[in-house]
Amino acid sequence: MGVIKTLDYNTVVKIAAGEVIDRPASIVRELIDNSLDAGAAVIKVVISGGGKQIIEVQDDGSGMEKGDLEICTKNHTTSKIGSFDDIIALRTLGFRGEALSSIAEVADVSILSRLRHTQSGYRMETAFGEFKSFTETGMNTGTTVIVRDLFGNLPARKKFLSNDSTETRFVNHEILKKALAFHDTGFEFSSHGERKYLASPKRTLVERIVEFFPDTTDYLIPLERHDGAVKITAYLTKPAFIRPNRSYQYFFVNRRAVEWKHFYFAIQNAYGNLIPKGFFPAVFLYLELDPAEVDFNVHPMKKEVRFREESVISKAVQHALREALSDSDGISPADEGEMRFTPYERKIAGAIGGFLDGQSAGDMENGVNRQVPPPDKQDTRPFDHPAGSERGLFPARQAAAPGNIDYLEYRYVGIVFSAYIVLEGDGQILFVDQHAAHERINYEKMRDKYRSGQTASQELLVPVQIDIPLKAADSFRENVDTLGAMGFEIEHFGGNSYVIRSIPD
Ligand SMILES: Nc1ncnc2c1ncn2[C@@H]1O[C@H](COP(=O)(O)OP(=O)(O)OP(=O)(O)O)[C@@H](O)[C@H]1O
Ligand SMILES: [Mg+2]
Repeated sequence: MGVIKTLDYNTVVKIAAGEVIDRPASIVRELIDNSLDAGAAVIKVVISGGGKQIIEVQDDGSGMEKGDLEICTKNHTTSKIGSFDDIIALRTLGFRGEALSSIAEVADVSILSRLRHTQSGYRMETAFGEFKSFTETGMNTGTTVIVRDLFGNLPARKKFLSNDSTETRFVNHEILKKALAFHDTGFEFSSHGERKYLASPKRTLVERIVEFFPDTTDYLIPLERHDGAVKITAYLTKPAFIRPNRSYQYFFVNRRAVEWKHFYFAIQNAYGNLIPKGFFPAVFLYLELDPAEVDFNVHPMKKEVRFREESVISKAVQHALREALSDSDGISPADEGEMRFTPYERKIAGAIGGFLDGQSAGDMENGVNRQVPPPDKQDTRPFDHPAGSERGLFPARQAAAPGNIDYLEYRYVGIVFSAYIVLEGDGQILFVDQHAAHERINYEKMRDKYRSGQTASQELLVPVQIDIPLKAADSFRENVDTLGAMGFEIEHFGGNSYVIRSIPD
C-alpha cells in the first residue's frame, strides 16, 4: 500500500497558519498592517506575558461594517485584492486574506469594530477556529483586536516560544519597524501594564528616526534622489558614528520593512574602509517604486522582496549612498585636519593627547588589550555588570593584536576624520576611536570613585533632558539607582525621557 495520504482540513489550516504566525511579534506585525491599511492615525499595542498571554491592537481607522466583521476571520477573505492581477498595483500592506484567519486558528480572538458615521460597533468572539458570539457594542470608531492564549491548542508550538522579555523585545522591534516606515502615524506601546512609549505622529521622517535613535542626531546625512523609476530616501550616519552590529540598519520598500542582501553590500561598498572592520554605520533606507516592479509575494511573512530589475536597483542604491557620503562633511579629504575641529572635539583631542603622553596613565590601565565582548552583548549590559567593563579602546583589531602592548611607547601622531586618534610605534599603527576613548576614561573615573565610595555630586545649573534609546530603556531603568549612587540625580519624565539634575563631580 502506498504511503501518501491527504491531510485532514484541521491539519492543513494549522500548517498554513504556522507559515504566517510563529510568535507574538508576527501577530503584532499583521495587526498593525491591518490598522495601517485602514488608515489609522494612532495605533496602540498592549501586551502582557511577552504577548503570549494577551495582545491587543487598537486603531482609529476606518473600521469594518457588520457583514465584513462577520467574515473577516474566514480563510482567504480580503477587501484588498479581487484577483491575482491586482497584486501588480498593490498599495496596501495586506493582500492574502490570511492574517486574521491564521491568528483566529491558533488563539482566542475578540475583534471589535465600528465603522465611521455609525451609531455603534460590533464584537465578534472566536476561539481556536470556532465562532463563539457576535454582539452589538458601544465603542469609538476603529478596530480593536484582542488575542489571548496564543497556541493554547498547539502545545508543541507554544514550547518554542522564548521567555517573556525576549518575546517582548521581538514585539518591540516589529513596532519599531512600522514606526520607522510610517512616521506620520502615532504608535503607543505598553507591556505588562506599563507604557513603554508613545511615539506621536511626526511631520518628517527624520523626526521619527531621531525619536527612536536620538544618539544618531548629530551624525545623520540626508539623501533623496530619483534614479530612473526608483525614489531613494535615506538617512545615513557619518563614519564617526559606528555600532558593533547592524541593529541601526533598516531597509524599506514601499513602506515595508524587508530583507535584501544587496542592501548590506551597498552599505559595505559605500563606506569601504571608512569604518573599522566589524563595525557598522546607521542607515535608514527607503525605496519607493511602482508596485509592478516589485514582488512581495515571495515569503509567507512578506519578509523578502524580489525586484524585477534587481541589479539596476542595487547599483542605484550603492551609487546614492556613496554620493551622499562623499558630499557630506566629515569624510572628504578637505575636511581633515584641526581646522575642522569643533571646540568640543579639540578639548577631547587635547585631553586624550595628554593622556596618551602618560600624564594620567593610571586611568588607562584597563583600557587596552582587552577583548571586545561579542557585539550582541555590548549594548544591553547593565552598567555595573563586571564584564561590562571589558570593552577595549582598540576593539576592531584587539583580538588579533599581540599580547601586552605597551601603548605608552607609542607616539601620538594626530587625529584623522575628526574621529580617530592615530598612534605609531613598534612597527605598528593604532587607531583609537576618540569618542569611545573619552567615554571610557569618564567611565573608569566614575567607576573607581564609586567603588571607593568617594562619589560627589554637582548640581547642573540647567537640568538636561535625555531620551533613552528604546533598546536601552529597560537596562537604563534597572540601573537608575546605581547611577544615583554614582552621583547622577535622575528623574523620570514620562515615557523614555529622563531629566538629569546632577552629575558626578
Ligand atoms: N484593523 C482593521 N480595520 C479595518 N478593517 C480590517 C482591519 N483588520 C482587518 N480588516 C479587514 O479584514 C480583512 C482581512 O484581514 P486579514 O489581515 O486577514 O487579510 P488582509 O489584510 O486582506 O491580507 P493579509 O493576509 O496579507 O494580511 C482585511 O482585508 C480588511 O478588510
Ligand atoms: Mg492583513
